[in-house]
Amino acid sequence: MKYLIIGSGGREHALYWRLLHDKSADEVFVAPGNGGVPDKYRVNIKQEDFKSISGFCTDKNIDIVVVGPEAPLVAGIVDHLKNEKIPAFGPVQKAAMLEGSKLFAKTIMNKYNIPTAGYNEFSNKNDLMDFINSRQEFPIVIKLDGLAAGKGVGIPESKKEALDFIKDNVTENAKVFVEDFLEGEEASVLGISDGETVVPLTAAQDHKRIFDGDKGPNTGGMGAYAPAPVMNSESMKRVQAEILTPTIRAMREEGIIFKGVLYAGLMLKGDQIKVLEFNARFGDPEVQVILPLLNGRLGDIIEKSINGNLNAGDITFSGKSAITVVMSSGGYPGPYEKGKEITGLDSLSDEIIAFHAGTELKGGKTFTNGGRVLNITAMGNSLIEAKNKVYNEIEKIKFDGVFYRKDIGNKALKFLE
Ligand code: AMP
Ligand code: GLY
Repeated sequence: MKYLIIGSGGREHALYWRLLHDKSADEVFVAPGNGGVPDKYRVNIKQEDFKSISGFCTDKNIDIVVVGPEAPLVAGIVDHLKNEKIPAFGPVQKAAMLEGSKLFAKTIMNKYNIPTAGYNEFSNKNDLMDFINSRQEFPIVIKLDGLAAGKGVGIPESKKEALDFIKDNVTENAKVFVEDFLEGEEASVLGISDGETVVPLTAAQDHKRIFDGDKGPNTGGMGAYAPAPVMNSESMKRVQAEILTPTIRAMREEGIIFKGVLYAGLMLKGDQIKVLEFNARFGDPEVQVILPLLNGRLGDIIEKSINGNLNAGDITFSGKSAITVVMSSGGYPGPYEKGKEITGLDSLSDEIIAFHAGTELKGGKTFTNGGRVLNITAMGNSLIEAKNKVYNEIEKIKFDGVFYRKDIGNKALKFLE
């Protein structure tokens, strides 16, 4: 089998690795990929250039396309490839609106009683300002409707912070909503759907803030582990019964067949489980810890999702734990420099998988080329074992300005005591 993966991050390198590692594929191309992918398999086509992508697939006899990021899904890449008779893993454009429009997702959840935070919708700035001015309780959560690469959510702690967020981020007629602030522990439960059945993957926990102790600004994700012990088998059953299955059914009711990854970002408190957001793709860095734990062949699951014959028992996990720590460029998520040479990758123990994200190979050397640079990943019989492996080895990798969190996994340990 020949695959083409769309995307350039750690998620896409993990997909590339898994498809080859479990022998789902003979060859895997990545457009555009990163320094973790041999040059021969990197394809210099932009993710928004659908015509060139389908042209490449036809030329190279690609069997299946796997779409990593949300932007091409929301722009309709799967619809385009379907029209060209090229099988693609991921939702069609209308289905990807669960991620592409946060308001669409809220409307679906409200209509079909899928648990989520209460909200008020605004279509002009004046009404929004009036609402904020009359509001007494803070924090609140302000969300912009469309894709905003992680920048569309503000959690102001006071009226002043709320007004500042609106001034800086909300244009005159932007669609915005204000959501109740939920407290608790976050977890990500991803399900694979074939349009009718949805099968959950092992739960993962991301670390969104840049600094240890969940301090500082939000990032794309600074590390993850799986399984997340905050989810037990009882709560996984509830997520399946109250969230994943009802959402796929709701979409069908609306005449939309959702195939691919339905990612539910959840907030848990006591026996309350609520949806913070849906994504329509694998999480990054969540998938970097989910894929190493998967039994069997990823390609079989992808084919079943595309062909509509996925069954509940088709996805199982090894029972081990995995952890990934994101090494980032100094300054990220603010401005940072690129082009710093990375050393030490060759000296890592063979128990470590170094997924590349923002890297570039030049003349046999590896250089930084993005904010999130590497995802240093290990498995263990326990989370603590996996964590020790990663942190014992990570110091071998050096580049100018390197930064990473030292506390990935700590949040889980209190559930394991
Ligand atoms: P979203 O893109 O909607 O997941 O929001 C990004 C992050 O903001 C989430 O991962 C949460 O940490 C936080 N967040 C979003 N909605 C809420 C909420 N209603 N209450 C508390 N935190 C939230
Ligand atoms: N790790 C969060 C995301 O992929 O959206």
